[in-house]
Amino acid sequence: MSCDVRPETMKRIDCAELANAFIDEQISALREQIGSRKVLLALSGGVDSSVVAALLIKAIGSQLTCVHVNHGLLRKGEPEQVIEVFRNQLNANLIYVDATDRFLDKLAGVSDPEQKRKIIGKEFIDVFAEEAKTLEGIDFLAQGTIYPDILESKGIKAHHNVGGLPEDLNFELVEPVKFLYKDEVRQVGLALGLPESMVFRQPFPGPGLGVRCVGAITRDRLEAVRESDAILREEFALAGLQGKVWQYFTVVPPFTSTGIKDGKRTDDWAVIIRAVNSIDATTASIEELSYELLYKVRDRILSEVNGVNRVLYDISPKPVATIEWE
Ligand code: XMP
Repeated sequence: MSCDVRPETMKRIDCAELANAFIDEQISALREQIGSRKVLLALSGGVDSSVVAALLIKAIGSQLTCVHVNHGLLRKGEPEQVIEVFRNQLNANLIYVDATDRFLDKLAGVSDPEQKRKIIGKEFIDVFAEEAKTLEGIDFLAQGTIYPDILESKGIKAHHNVGGLPEDLNFELVEPVKFLYKDEVRQVGLALGLPESMVFRQPFPGPGLGVRCVGAITRDRLEAVRESDAILREEFALAGLQGKVWQYFTVVPPFTSTGIKDGKRTDDWAVIIRAVNSIDATTASIEELSYELLYKVRDRILSEVNGVNRVLYDISPKPVATIEWE
């Protein structure tokens, strides 16, 4: 695929000026490619799809339709932020699909990690395809493919373990950031006026909190993952660590242990704190969190999150561990 090689003459986008020049160039190119036709985009709220959405809104406005599928495994506040930024602030055509029940019903009782990923990936494609079929006259599918995706997976944005859209939805692709590296996409996102919390979002797996609610997902344990993750992120932000630590999150394994609360024995879950630094996720080292921060997070999790009686801190680097727990 010769057109999938970054042009040698392309400058590294490392400042607002170059980001603005890229945006102007892309707006012209997108208008030329798309004309008066219509484009569909799966908007996850991640950096890449958000930047593509914002670029397309500038270039073609209401000819773009975004679909945000909430699989029930998103972090606290994420769907609300997508709706606020894209529907309310940028005036995008945004279809919001809350498919939580559908995903969680399919995942009930499934403990094998690969099986969970497959179900999530397939269900995602099915929900998206169903929405796409209700829309008239779509010619293009926009994707947040970035250059490392091309280098690593020959251009297929990995919706892990699934093939892609069904044949009858074979649209022409629009991939305006396909020659950019992640830091360049972030520069463009800032120049487009996207919120910093979106532009500097830490990496988040496609199957979302599903890989952090280890084993068979239950709704109450999933809530423990979501709530403890929100507390961890809040405390990291207060400690000035947001954007400085590569990835940080909580994990809740599918076992309980004994505790004591109000003079009675409890049988509750353990929340595990994970905070790592990495360059490309192939290796990772531990962020050394202060005891002050750990105690604060522990106190909040133990008092605010239902069903939890222990907080642990994972100090395992990659290798030998992986970043996620499954
Ligand atoms: P591991 O756990 O393999 O993770 O050390 C490396 C990086 O990849 C992310 N990750 C995923 N991303 N779908 C994704 O889109 C997945 O199934 C998945 N599993 C892991 C992980 O968060 C880390 O940044």
